[in-house]
Amino acid sequence: MNALRILSDEHQSLAAVLHAIRFMLKDIAAGKLEPDRALFQAMVHYLEAYAEQRHHPKEDRLFAILKTRTAQGAEALATLSAEHAAGPERIAALRRALADFTADPRTLDAFAAAFDQYATFYRTHMMLEEEAVLPLAHHALTPADWAEVDAFFAEAETDKGGEDFSALFDRLVECAPEPIGLGARPYAATR
Ligand SMILES: [Fe+2]
Ligand SMILES: [Fe+2]
Repeated sequence: MNALRILSDEHQSLAAVLHAIRFMLKDIAAGKLEPDRALFQAMVHYLEAYAEQRHHPKEDRLFAILKTRTAQGAEALATLSAEHAAGPERIAALRRALADFTADPRTLDAFAAAFDQYATFYRTHMMLEEEAVLPLAHHALTPADWAEVDAFFAEAETDKGGEDFSALFDRLVECAPEPIGLGARPYAATR
């Protein structure tokens, strides 16, 4: 059942980046922070790539097994799976708003509105998983199911061809303003 802890940890990382973007937008609107467009781009990339490449595939596997064990939670699972499928479309809307803001800083409000919409959606999505589905999996899966899930998760973690999301997260924290990060400094993809 290590898998449940991994999913919760991944939610924490995604929530931290959502929180960071919200914090920065608030300070930019208040004139307290200069926007770092490269940092915003890297954060939105993190939200997209980490969720799509690392997080959702693990959940999809767990949910598929859960469905074979119980009819409970069927509605929540259908909602979550539709939301996973619509993930790229939702993040594309956020990307477009960020591209507009990068081209024209006067569109800050539109970017902030697009971000709010995305953040609200994703927080609700994670909450449904944490409150309705993960506890159900905790009770419904058999030891053999957990062995299968844990093996799948371990395999996903050792996918050496993928991006180093932990290093990316650290760079985001290094460049984010205090108190959410180590202090505002220009974001660069590599050090
Ligand atoms: Fe999910
Ligand atoms: Fe999730």
